[in-house]
Amino acid sequence: MPEPLIRVARLVKEFKTYDRRGGIAGAMLDLVHREYKTVRAVDDVGFTIERGEMVGYIGANGAGKSTTIKVLCGILFPTSGEVAVDGRVPWKDREAHVQRIGAVFGQRSQLWWDLAAGESLRLLAKIYAVSEAEYAARMAEFEQVLELREFLKTPVRKLSLGQKMRCELAASLLHAPPVLFLDEPTIGLDVVAKQSIREFLRRINRERGVTTILTTHDLREIEELCARVLIIDRGRIVFDGSLDELRAQAVDTVELRFRMAHALGADWQPEGLPAQGVAWKAEGHELVGSLTRGSLPRAEAIRAVLERFGQGVQDIAISEPQIERIVQRIYEAEKQKRRAAEQPA
Ligand SMILES: Nc1ncnc2c1ncn2[C@@H]1O[C@H](COP(=O)(O)OP(=O)(O)O)[C@@H](O)[C@H]1O
Ligand SMILES: [Mg+2]
Repeated sequence: MPEPLIRVARLVKEFKTYDRRGGIAGAMLDLVHREYKTVRAVDDVGFTIERGEMVGYIGANGAGKSTTIKVLCGILFPTSGEVAVDGRVPWKDREAHVQRIGAVFGQRSQLWWDLAAGESLRLLAKIYAVSEAEYAARMAEFEQVLELREFLKTPVRKLSLGQKMRCELAASLLHAPPVLFLDEPTIGLDVVAKQSIREFLRRINRERGVTTILTTHDLREIEELCARVLIIDRGRIVFDGSLDELRAQAVDTVELRFRMAHALGADWQPEGLPAQGVAWKAEGHELVGSLTRGSLPRAEAIRAVLERFGQGVQDIAISEPQIERIVQRIYEAEKQKRRAAEQPA
């Protein structure tokens, strides 16, 4: 078995912070004796990522996503644990490491604020020792989806958020790294800008096989891009698996919505429709059937409605359980577990 591209084992990162005491007396006391408290941002995290994977890293605010990414990038030194990215220990081999990874942090920039976007990219290419020919070839490739040309002469500070992010992505890939870390790359972007960035990410993952870890708040993005997700909750990985496995965790219902030619009326009763494992209700012009997972094949439920109403059915929509709800439930389950553990025996 070849070594996975990324291997993280028993990773712990703690931050020491201190509480400031109020007032002048407090400030004096702080000088002599600071009251430290330790925040364990990443708590015994382990996972491996194979070459070419695109993995979504999700979790609530403060869960430890950025801290993990920063350790993987070599920006932060861990408290303990092991990390190997493409055969390197990020914080030990920093210089070699940054040459071989790409990173985008939605909250900060790797570009020069006062330089034109194109000059910023050129400068980065120089820093990464990318040849003129390679630079030209990559820019031409990026241009197809990112459409940078229209703003290459504009100073970075004058770019829109979406333009800036397109530029950041190009910058992170100029040196053709095999691995890309993206920490909330689409934060604050509108739908159109998000879409072009997703398309680009899909493309570079598919065509160049760039291994990607993506953190985002937008679970739709994960659904569109990542076959696998890691969920982190308070510094601990609470789920690691495929999107399908995540969905399968939901005992949730699948919803069938039938658009009817006529409104069904408030006192409508689901006569002649299968009752076992299906809850039927009328909502104006819609007939809604909620199926508990595994209860009744959805095809059977659909057939029953078509037999009963025939031409009265104009359209059918099937909605899977929302990924947001599944993830929310995982957090809830973790909270319950913590509470149970805190109860005195
Ligand atoms: N430089 C730091 N100093 C002190 N605490 C920090 C620092 N960076 C992060 N933290 C704390 O670590 C925890 C995890 O933060 P972070 O990794 O940024 O979470 P996420 O990216 O998932 O929102 C939070 O409680 C945060 O306040
Ligand atoms: Mg973060």
